[in-house]
Amino acid sequence: MTVRGLGIADVPVPTVGLLLAEAEGCLKEAGIEQPTLESAWLLEHVLDLSPLKQRVKPERQVTAAEWTSVQALVARRANREPLQYVLGTQEFCGREFRVTPSVLIPRPESALLVEETVRRCKENFRATVVEVGTGSGCLAVSVAAALPTARVLAIDVSPEALAVARVNMVQHGVEGRIECFCGDLLSPLWEHIPANQVDVILSNPPYIEESDWMTLQPEVRCFEPRLALAGGRDGMDLHRRLLQQAPAYLKPGGVLLMEVGFGQADSVCRQAEGGGWFRTCDVLRDEGGIDRVVCLERKSGGLKLQSCGAPTQLAELNRHS
Ligand SMILES: C[S@@+](CC[C@H](N)C(=O)[O-])C[C@H]1O[C@@H](n2cnc3c(N)ncnc32)[C@H](O)[C@@H]1O
Repeated sequence: MTVRGLGIADVPVPTVGLLLAEAEGCLKEAGIEQPTLESAWLLEHVLDLSPLKQRVKPERQVTAAEWTSVQALVARRANREPLQYVLGTQEFCGREFRVTPSVLIPRPESALLVEETVRRCKENFRATVVEVGTGSGCLAVSVAAALPTARVLAIDVSPEALAVARVNMVQHGVEGRIECFCGDLLSPLWEHIPANQVDVILSNPPYIEESDWMTLQPEVRCFEPRLALAGGRDGMDLHRRLLQQAPAYLKPGGVLLMEVGFGQADSVCRQAEGGGWFRTCDVLRDEGGIDRVVCLERKSGGLKLQSCGAPTQLAELNRHS
């Protein structure tokens, strides 16, 4: 994609003011909703000059290398790549997280999962917490930072996502406190956690319905990983599979916290209760008033392991419980 009007050869004395105006015009033309703000952030990223200083000192000269770097970022954003991938970072729960196109960009509503996990475990110095589908690691890192004595395990099926999560764990100084596993849902836990030991399993699984795929913004549909978004025909494939697998690992009284899409909460709770292992203890709403996180408490009682996901492994777990 070319960025019209941004060639440095056309500019006699390249300055911050000129670059800002060109970047803003280019983003506006591409239909970006906040071209003024975003162009200031892109300049800040390259020039290390705050948006305020850009406005106060528009006459500051820009080198050819700086101009070209901003031009490249503006072109990516004008092509509808999310700003967070262009800048490589997103804030979540008060921390900056590295993000690449291998991971979902953290959304503010997912903080409900962290808050609820912390609320449930803060009095329990030996809590065991498992996150399924860790992506950037934003949830596991935030939980580990808030619960310094908890054992935290983070799983993702994508090795590329786990590599990003590890970078974030190091960046926030919790890499020694989170055990990472690559694999499908809870299957990697088999060799690491005995049955009925986990206090909280939290997950923000993919939950976009098949029929909603084409309605997603291009930023999401064309750039965020499909593996992190698509949840099957009705968007609840992974919720159903977690409902099957989680009872074997959770303590009686332990909870499964799952983020859900618009209109999915009732169905997920019904399916959970229908399976016999859970009772709904809460449904948390996000700031938009949407039912966003279902909190399911594992009932006490023996496991009917044949009804769960991996019969052989789970039968073994039952023997140990
Ligand atoms: C919606 S993203 C959530 C990422 C992060 N936890 C967050 O809240 O920002 C879902 C994540 O689940 C992972 N995932 C998808 N299918 C999976 C599976 N079968 N087992 C484990 N992880 C899976 C994806 O790779 C992706 O990182």
